[in-house]
This record gives sequence, structure tokens and C-alpha cells, in this order.
Amino acid sequence: MTAQIIDGTAIAQKVRNEVKDKVAARIAAGKSQPALATVLVGERIDSATYVSMKQKACAELGMTSYHKPLPADISQEDLEKLIKELNADPKVNGILVQLPLPSHLDEERVLQLISIEKDVDGFSPINLGRLAQKGREPLFVPCTPYGCIYLLKEAGVTIKGANAVVLGRSNIVGMPAALLLVKEDATVTVVHSRTKDIPAVMKNADIIIAAIGRAEMVRGDWIKPGAAVIDVGINGVPKLGPDGQQMISPKTGKPMQRLVGDVNYEEAKEVAGFITPVPGGVGPMTIAMLMANTLRAAEIQDK
Ligand code: GUN
Repeated sequence: MTAQIIDGTAIAQKVRNEVKDKVAARIAAGKSQPALATVLVGERIDSATYVSMKQKACAELGMTSYHKPLPADISQEDLEKLIKELNADPKVNGILVQLPLPSHLDEERVLQLISIEKDVDGFSPINLGRLAQKGREPLFVPCTPYGCIYLLKEAGVTIKGANAVVLGRSNIVGMPAALLLVKEDATVTVVHSRTKDIPAVMKNADIIIAAIGRAEMVRGDWIKPGAAVIDVGINGVPKLGPDGQQMISPKTGKPMQRLVGDVNYEEAKEVAGFITPVPGGVGPMTIAMLMANTLRAAEIQDK
């Protein structure tokens, strides 16, 4: 059996096209152009790359973005002051504080300060608390887990009643993914670094969401035949040449890397029913869902 590959790039493009059309329609109807404020503290290359991709997506979809780059040594007080200004600014619909923040800053205090109507990342304790409660709905769902569920639905995977295993319990992916799966009526197990006998726990999983940050940890023989495997991992591993030696970039002289997920793709695709590739699976969905959330923020604030 070879798994059906879930094409995250194509599905993300579909979401982006839908958002773009809705943005154009609201502007044609005389409503405001949705606007996202991106807050980047410090100069981490990965964070700067993600933020610039988010700004570019805004431009492509007809939305505005306001970029707020801040020095790595900004004080808690000054960062909180900026968040309060963005909360009060009627031109700003969504606020995204790129994580992680430098260690001297109190991330929890920053996230809880973001107005829930502008919390397009869905990380405010109120939005996450509502996600955790029966009969309550958050205004926004965190973008990566939202993208994972969207991919499952697009692939036609039945979530209701399924046994789901989430690997990882991070605030950004694992925990909200587990909560979302419960809301969708799955029976959910969360696996983490202290879980005993992970392969045994996974044997019965109809759905696997892997977000544990360990390269190719999930082996093919851990997977139930026919399971749907959503791989959130993005891990750099050494790129080896045909001779088995580390490849060196002729341009930079540095060791070359290739990206792999948390799942051993070559093994898993022979067993799973559905699988997301890395890259080209969950990755593109995060920004697509952020764009959908930013449009939603503008719609909420119209009222
Ligand atoms: N860092 C890693 N993923 C995310 C995300 O989805 N949102 C924000 N704000 N920071 C992140």
C-alpha cells in the first residue's frame, strides 16, 4: 500500500485564493482592507524569514501589514506599550508577535495582553481556554493546528470517533491540536518526552499529528496500516552526497542540510493511508490559516 500524499502547497493555495477573493469583495463593498501587525523582537534569522513570508502573503492577498521590528534588548514595559497601542489602533485588525521571544521577556504576559478580537495567532489564554471548553468557541484557532485539521478534512479523513495520537505538547502546536481533535470528536492521546513505549501507544492511531521536533523519529512500523499521518516537523539534517559524505555548499563553504519531518517519510508512506510531505505539507498551511484569521479579524471588527 502506498499512502495518498496530501498536497499542502495546493491546499494552502486554495485557501489563499478564497481569502483573496473575499478581501477583494469586502473592499469592493466599501469595507476596510484587513491589516496585520507583525511584531519581531531581535534578529533571529528563522523568525525574520517567517515574518517576511507573512508580510508578503498579506500583500499578495490584498491585505495591509504593518511591520514592527524591535531590538533584541527591548524592555518588557516597552513591548507591552506597543501591544497596547496596536490593540487601540483601529487600522490594525490582527496582531502577531513572532515567537520565541528573547528569554528576558515574559511571553505569557505579552500574549495575554493581545486583545482577543485581534489575536490572529489564537495564543491568548482566553482563546485557548475557550478551545479547551465544551460548548465554547474561540474567536481564533492557532494557525498550524488549524492547518492540520484542514488538511485532514480536505483529504476526506474521518475525524469523528477516530483514535488520534498527537506527538508533542507545545503551546503552539501539540496542545491546541489535541484540543481541536477533541472538539472534532476524536479520542485523543498526547505523547511526549515522558511517555512510556511510544510505538505501543501509536499502534492503534487512525490519525497521527507529529509535532515533537525530532528528525524522522516516527518509524514505519509504529504506524497502523491506513492511518492518516500529518507531519508538522521541520528538522535540518546533514545532506549526504552519493559517497555518503557530508555535502559542502560550493557557494558558502558551509555544510549543506536537507529538511525532514518528525516522521520517516520513506517508511511511513508504505504503511499509511494518507501522509503529508516535508516540505510541502503542513508548512504552507500555517500562513494560509493566518491569512484566513486576519480576514476573520477584520470581519469581527466590522460589527
Ligand atoms: N513561532 C513558531 N510558530 C509560530 C506561530 O505560528 N506564530 C507565532 N507568532 N510564532 C511562531
